[in-house]
Amino acid sequence: MSDVPFTLRDARESDLAYLNAYAAAEGMDDLPSAENVRVAVNEDDVPVGFLRLQQGSNGAAHVNPVVSCATWRGWGVGRALMEEALASHGELRLVARAASVPFYRALGFGELSWDAIAPEIAVDCDGCELRGECCPLPMGKKMR
Ligand SMILES: CC(C)(COP(=O)(O)OP(=O)(O)OC[C@H]1O[C@@H](n2cnc3c(N)ncnc32)[C@H](O)[C@@H]1OP(=O)(O)O)[C@@H](O)C(=O)NCCC(=O)NCCS
Repeated sequence: MSDVPFTLRDARESDLAYLNAYAAAEGMDDLPSAENVRVAVNEDDVPVGFLRLQQGSNGAAHVNPVVSCATWRGWGVGRALMEEALASHGELRLVARAASVPFYRALGFGELSWDAIAPEIAVDCDGCELRGECCPLPMGKKMR
């Protein structure tokens, strides 16, 4: 929604406490660094969401992950981060949790085969004890 005040910028090391708290709330690991991370910030420059891009060994840019702060969901933060990343890279791939598949479908992402996902990213799901509950789905989108 365009009337909600947030802007996008590169993440800084000083943002990581916020970003890692948002990740932890979703059962995700800490970010390795602020590198290749874009953040959505509110009017006080406080992060309200982030997207980390990981360049896969297969040459494809993977979203790993995108997270909006729980109190900011539904206000276009996730869409803005994803659309910017897609415009920058031309194609995005990712492994979606079942719960986030409707979000990706709303953005026009479609299902891919596991072969399309870089092995070092796909392997995260292989050993995961939550795989049955999470039902991970490879998805992607190319710019038209
Ligand atoms: C998935 C997530 C990033 C979406 O972020 P968000 O900021 O709420 O998304 P937006 O407000 O930009 O929504 C974009 C579109 O997706 C739709 N959408 C978002 N979540 C949805 C859901 N659960 N079901 C159906 N549609 C959904 C919105 O309605 C919106 O559609 P529109 O633009 O056509 O109106 C957020 O819910 C989140 O952080 N979830 C937890 C972390 C996670 O699972 N990340 C993905 C890892 S694979």
